[in-house]
Amino acid sequence: MLPATDTQEFKELLHQQVDKRRTFAIISHPDAGKTTLTEKLLLYSGAIRSAGSVKARKSDKHATSDWMDIEKQRGISVTSSAMQFEYDGYHINILDTPGHQDFSEDTYRVLVAADAAVMLIDAAKGVEAQTIKLFKVCRMRNIPIFTFVNKMDRAARDPFELMQELEDVLGIRSCPINWPIGVDGDFQGVYHRDTKMVELYENGDHGKKKLDKLDIALDDPAIHDVLAQHYIDRLNEEIELLDIGEEFDPERVRKGELTPMFFGSAVTNFGVEPFLERFLKFTPPPLSRLSDAGEIGPEEPYFSGFVFKIQANMNPAHRDRLAFMRIVSGAYQKGMEVWHSGTGKQVTLKQPQQFMADEREAVEEAWAGDIIGLFDPGIYQLGDTLSSGPKIHYENIPVFAPEFFNRVRPEDSMKRKQFQKGISQLAEEGAIQTFIRTETGREEFMVGVVGVLQFEVLEHRLKTEYQTKIVMEGMPFRHVRWVVKSPKPIEDLKLTSTSGRAKDSRGRDVLLFENEWSIRLACENNEGLELAETANRL
Ligand code: G4P
Repeated sequence: MLPATDTQEFKELLHQQVDKRRTFAIISHPDAGKTTLTEKLLLYSGAIRSAGSVKARKSDKHATSDWMDIEKQRGISVTSSAMQFEYDGYHINILDTPGHQDFSEDTYRVLVAADAAVMLIDAAKGVEAQTIKLFKVCRMRNIPIFTFVNKMDRAARDPFELMQELEDVLGIRSCPINWPIGVDGDFQGVYHRDTKMVELYENGDHGKKKLDKLDIALDDPAIHDVLAQHYIDRLNEEIELLDIGEEFDPERVRKGELTPMFFGSAVTNFGVEPFLERFLKFTPPPLSRLSDAGEIGPEEPYFSGFVFKIQANMNPAHRDRLAFMRIVSGAYQKGMEVWHSGTGKQVTLKQPQQFMADEREAVEEAWAGDIIGLFDPGIYQLGDTLSSGPKIHYENIPVFAPEFFNRVRPEDSMKRKQFQKGISQLAEEGAIQTFIRTETGREEFMVGVVGVLQFEVLEHRLKTEYQTKIVMEGMPFRHVRWVVKSPKPIEDLKLTSTSGRAKDSRGRDVLLFENEWSIRLACENNEGLELAETANRL
């Protein structure tokens, strides 16, 4: 039992717990080594005993699925939606994000729950397509971004060139915290700029265990016994160059204007622990969030938070539905009753779960910054607030405007019920948006998505989880606009012949367009027509 929330004892406990919490997401292009890095982090914490368990599961999925990409995406985002572990007195929540750009909306929602992001880059490939997309999403949230340049054990690009690329392609300045010695498959180790120590690389046991550190000060004469002169000379020159470059400025890091940069090799365990230690030190404890009653900080004594992800059928055998919640303030205690913004009623939080590498466990207590999974009997929606204190509403989680539209129907009309159930489930998870179009004289059911891969997910999940095969036909629309204000009934609006009219899942009027030009024309030809790009501000 926790002490009563109005006591000094509780306040002190809350302060301690908040102070040691760190909640972050890892973003990367597929194959940069996110699974490997996550696994190594878990390994340090003792959360898993041997490297390989996260990986092994991922490869199983690869081997057994025809739907590799989807399963991989789903595998990553599902099994490791939120993992937590302890390290060096810190309590860490890692939020995983799908690597594919078609899931950028999913990524955005996950980032709403994070206080920082780790951007993983393949040292040989540099900034890749998905890195750019996901970085942009991070930028929208203004959270600190830490860069880990992975795979230094192999041929790698010149580190200065990589720094330049971050600046040119992503528009962010970087500040190396450590620096590689010997690149291009000739990796000797790293120099830690803060401690002025050299850590030598020795590839042992394929990264299955932690290496004993091989640390030596750069000005220690014994360095000459372990590192050839030309490495030392080059390192000294490079340090000089770095020293006149960008200085480490925690304030700019917090604002997302400067990214601390680390070099290492996840698979061989090299540089992962020094990264983790510094990352935990520099990254902020749980940040406050905006609500309709102003900013709510983590040390408000009442429990509050918001739902940022809904996932059904995580375990097909159980047919369960989980709502993932980020706790913004206070503490959760077992059996707690809280107010729920969606229904306006008190709900009991039944058996919240937290997730480890390969298991989930019931939570007895959880604190601001933590991510918990709530069993959802179908009442939670994305963005819902839960609070044991005042009836506040956290800021809406924005919905992205869909850019691809398909007409969808069940192949077998007898399966209509299941079809509708599956579709509404996926819509509630935020993976798709649904529309009904009647202007063609019959009722057409349409699905809109942000990335086309979502259509494949839709098809696949309806088949496997709802035993319903569907028929999809592409539609030429690329833009949807919600009607905020209209001078006349929607049917009477003057639109181009290729534009369409429909209603969203809540019966609100929307217009569909093939191009920007017809949107402009609609506004010009219908004075007083006001359109919104998303349903957010309706
Ligand atoms: P992802 O989750 O970002 O998609 O990447 P993942 O960790 O699965 O890593 C992708 C590949 O890169 C894996 O190889 C992994 O072993 C390798 N890798 C990860 N970190 C490093 C590193 O620091 N150095 C080197 N050289 N390779 C690294 P794979 O061949 O796809 O799988 P496997 O043979 O390891 O099972």
